[in-house]
Formats: sequence, C-alpha cells, structure tokens
Amino acid sequence: MPARILNGAPIRDQIYTELKQEIAELASMGIRPGLAAVLVGNDPASTIYVHSKIAACEQLGLGNIHLTPPASTTTADLLTIVRELNARDDVDGILVQLPLPQQIEAKKILEAVDPAKDVDGFHPMNIGRLIEGRPSMVACTPLGVMEILRRSGIPVEGADAVVVGRSNIVGKPMALLLMHANATVTVCHSKTRDLRHFTRAADVVIAAIGRPAMITRDDIRPGATVIDVGVTRMTDSRLAETIFANSPERLEKFRKTGTAVVGDVHPDVAEIAGAITPVPGGVGPLTIAMLMSNTVKAARLRRGLRAPETAASRA
Ligand code: GUN
Repeated sequence: MPARILNGAPIRDQIYTELKQEIAELASMGIRPGLAAVLVGNDPASTIYVHSKIAACEQLGLGNIHLTPPASTTTADLLTIVRELNARDDVDGILVQLPLPQQIEAKKILEAVDPAKDVDGFHPMNIGRLIEGRPSMVACTPLGVMEILRRSGIPVEGADAVVVGRSNIVGKPMALLLMHANATVTVCHSKTRDLRHFTRAADVVIAAIGRPAMITRDDIRPGATVIDVGVTRMTDSRLAETIFANSPERLEKFRKTGTAVVGDVHPDVAEIAGAITPVPGGVGPLTIAMLMSNTVKAARLRRGLRAPETAASRA
C-alpha cells in the first residue's frame, strides 16, 4: 500500500492561523514582532530562501528588515551589523543566512547574536538549553519536523527513531528533540558502518544527509515513517533518469526543464513506507513557519509575556 503523504502546506497553514491570532493579541498590546534577515553576498539559493522568509513576515504582518551587505563584507563589518540589530527594540529576531562567505568567521557571528533574538537557535547558549531539556530558541527545521509528526498523529514516545546526519543545524538538534519527546534515538552519519542495519529497524527515519535519493526502499522497514529533510537541486540527467525511473511525471518535467529538486530519500520509498514527507513540499514549508513562530515567541519572551500553548510555545 502506498504511503500516506505528509504534505507540509496544510500544517504550515494551521500554524499560520494560530500565529495570526497570537500576532493580533500582541498588536492589541501595541507590539509588532519584527525579524531582521541578513544576507551577505548574492548566493542564488540563499537569496531565494531569504526572500521567502521576508515574504512570510509580510503575509503574517510581522515587521521585517532585509539587509544585504556585499560579498566582500568582513567579520568586523558583520559584527557591527549584528550588534546594531541586537540593540534595536523593533527587532525581535535576527537571522544571518548561512553559508557565509569564506573570509567571515561564521562562529564569531553566530555567537554575537543576542541569544534572546536568536530565532535560528544556533547560539551555543540556546544549544545548551536544548541539551538541558529546557529549550528556548530551537533550530527551525528540526522544530518543523516535530510539528509534522505531532500534527499528523505519528507516535514518537517509545518509538525507535533514526536520524541520518549529524549537522549542527538539523541532525544534532533533531536527535535532542526526539529524545526529549521520549523516542529511543540513534544518530547515523557518513562513518556509520552498516546504515541499513539501523534504518531498517526504525519506526521513524529522519534523513538529513544532503545526498540525493541515498535512502532507498531496502533501507526502510515497510510501514515506517520517513521524514526527508534533504533538498538538492539536481541537473545531472543521468542521475535524474535513475532516480525518477518509476516516477514518469517527474522525469517528464525534468526532461522539459533540465532541473529538479530531490530529497535524500528515493521516491520509490513512498511505495513501502507508512507515511512520508515529499520533496519539495514536505519539511520545507515548516522551516519558514517555525521561523515565524520563533520570531513571535522571541517577541513575547523578551517582554516577559508567557506564550500560549500553540506552536510558538513548543520546542
Ligand atoms: N542556511 C540553510 N539553512 C539555514 C537556516 O535554517 N538558517 C540560516 N540562517 N541559514 C540557513
């Protein structure tokens, strides 16, 4: 039986409905949460991401500032920008889009962001809080995955969960969130000797590796839940012919456009999984939704206001 498809859009819309209510409540108190996005240089993928983030702010009526310093920006210049944003009262969330140009010491920048405004959850203080189990700002993509699981009624407590990938942005915080939700968590990575041994035993597999279609049917136990965090823009037609061999519509579209976005999970996994997120359209929409949620949450916390029991208060 084909898998249940876990689309991100309806879940994002649900979260936006809740957030709009919260934003209206804050507006009645004279508060308008605001996000500052800093994009250094003009990397095409990053430009699209940041535009989507700003567009989401506009859609929800959040304040937004979009700064675009040149690719030649130095660490010192960027530190100055971050410190100015830290000091602004109309800025509740600060996002420095990654990756940064090579000459910039990214770690210094991420550590300079006021932890209370760190809507990406990348500051060591926020990572420490997450490890302790009293999270404040948590990375958006793993938070989005938790929302998909929760709002789709997929049990996590007591489940065997395997996270494939150990990045600071996704894999590590993902494993911590699942652990705090009482899953039994295994983290696999590029040096794992027998990946399939672990993934085949899992109730829930989270793929966050960054290698197109790496997780195949034989890696997944029939009926398991598969969450695909990977996003790779593919232009190699030989690779596309292989990956889309059983997906005629996607192959046709690739042949027409010469490009396609694929996840870390092979499309054929949808034939045997119990539930699966598509790429595109699965986890992606939730990442931005959780950024909006974190921005509203930061606005509340900074003013000592308790968050209601909605997406914004959960981590
Ligand atoms: N680059 C890729 N993902 C992210 C993210 O979640 N936040 C930021 N700031 N940059 C990214």
